[in-house]
Amino acid sequence: MKLRTRIAATYVTLTIVAIAIVSMISSWQIRQFLEKRDEATLTAQVSMFAEQFSAGILHVDPSGGSDSTLSSLAHPLGTRMTLIGRDGRVLFDTNVPRDSLGFLENHKGRPELRAARRGRVGTDVRESRTVHEDFLYAATQIHVPSDSLLDGGYVRLAFPTGPSRALVSRVQMMVWLVGLVVALCMAAASIPLARRITRPLQGISKMAEAMTKGDLRVRIPLAAQDEVGSLATTINTMADTLSTDIERLRKLERVRSEFLANVSHELRTPIFSMQGFLETLIDGAVDDPAVNREFLGKAHKHAERLNTLLNDLIEISRIESGDMKMSHRYFALPEFLAHVVEEMRPEADRKNISLTLLNPLPEDVEVFGDKERLKQVMVNLIDNAIKYTDPGGSVTVRAVADADKVTISVADTGCGIAEEHLGRIFERFYRVDKDRSREVGGTGLGLAIVKHIVEAHDGTLSVKSAVGKGTEFSFTVKR
Ligand SMILES: Nc1ncnc2c1ncn2[C@@H]1O[C@H](COP(=O)(O)OP(=O)(O)OP(=O)(O)O)[C@@H](O)[C@H]1O
Ligand SMILES: [Mg+2]
Repeated sequence: MKLRTRIAATYVTLTIVAIAIVSMISSWQIRQFLEKRDEATLTAQVSMFAEQFSAGILHVDPSGGSDSTLSSLAHPLGTRMTLIGRDGRVLFDTNVPRDSLGFLENHKGRPELRAARRGRVGTDVRESRTVHEDFLYAATQIHVPSDSLLDGGYVRLAFPTGPSRALVSRVQMMVWLVGLVVALCMAAASIPLARRITRPLQGISKMAEAMTKGDLRVRIPLAAQDEVGSLATTINTMADTLSTDIERLRKLERVRSEFLANVSHELRTPIFSMQGFLETLIDGAVDDPAVNREFLGKAHKHAERLNTLLNDLIEISRIESGDMKMSHRYFALPEFLAHVVEEMRPEADRKNISLTLLNPLPEDVEVFGDKERLKQVMVNLIDNAIKYTDPGGSVTVRAVADADKVTISVADTGCGIAEEHLGRIFERFYRVDKDRSREVGGTGLGLAIVKHIVEAHDGTLSVKSAVGKGTEFSFTVKR
């Protein structure tokens, strides 16, 4: 059964139960009231008639002469009057013709008469055996010594209970009728109410269905600030989180496959070149003293390149998987810088580039970090500066100290980097000029590694450049 139907059914059932209870209680109360009232009235009337018989104002005539007087007294009251002799014989009855009185049963044993003999007004409710209708009876004894027929006899009044019962039934009917209307109104009112409850639930289930099919864009329109509303909010938030997560996973997957494509591409170049030179040598060039050395040298250069590339790849995957362990400690910076610059000097000399260290810091200035990794940063930056500067240019390494950090910069007078590339050079495999980079042996991993290492030291890395004038990379280390 639908929730909506169930809510409506509950409302209607509750209404019907409430009506049944109201109807039962009200009709019981009314019946009680009417019965008490009728009994009191009839008791008063029968006592009054008894007094009048006892006083001789009223009497019964065996020949029937008094019948019309008695009838005219009983009828307006809506009662049936019966006069019964001491022996139980019926002397008169407003509802029975005089010539039929002889056929009537002896009334001596009637409950109201038996009660009357005990000196009170006796009452009883039952179906009349004479006229077959439900009656309330009230009887009392008459004492009139002058009238031998009536003395010790009884006057009895009977009042039909039908009309009272009919009134009760009418009230009951009215209650049910009103109740029915109320039940219908309830049913009608429960429909929009039930819909208000079920609509957001329908929204939620629709959304869950859509999510099952993989559509995470669906959101539940927020209805009310109630429990269902807060459920909807929770589910919407959940969907937001899920789609963000999935988006991130997709992006990661994209980056991963791009990375894989780049790697295979980069590996292929040196391998193919090596293969080419070696094949040429095998095909006979090995015996040609004019080229064999040159070809072997070139093959060797590509093997070296392959080695650097693989080392860089291992490095970067280690960094990105979080496997790279840093061992931070304090070490003297001036000595460190001098050492790195001297190591790079042969490379600069080979290209006829002047390499200068400008270090105004005292000998004992220390920085806090992983010395080996920071050396890698320096080597990468100086290597780039030499690679992308034409012979005759210069590369300057500088250190500037603050209270809590040292800023180290590597500046060159090289080709510079155009504005639009500056934001991307730290990405893996990104190279401004692919051909020139490859020529000088670059794969675009150096700066990505630099960035990772500087960030692992909580430092900042920045670059300033002007095309044709030169470039300056700076990074900070904590003191
Ligand atoms: N000092 C510089 N002057 C001009 N361009 C530079 C300089 N340093 C880096 N670049 C540009 O940024 C790109 C990325 O540098 P990165 O060090 O990451 O790669 P690479 O030097 O080409 O290769 P690798 O360092 O992996 O051998 C370079 O290809 C180059 O185009
Ligand atoms: Mg580089």
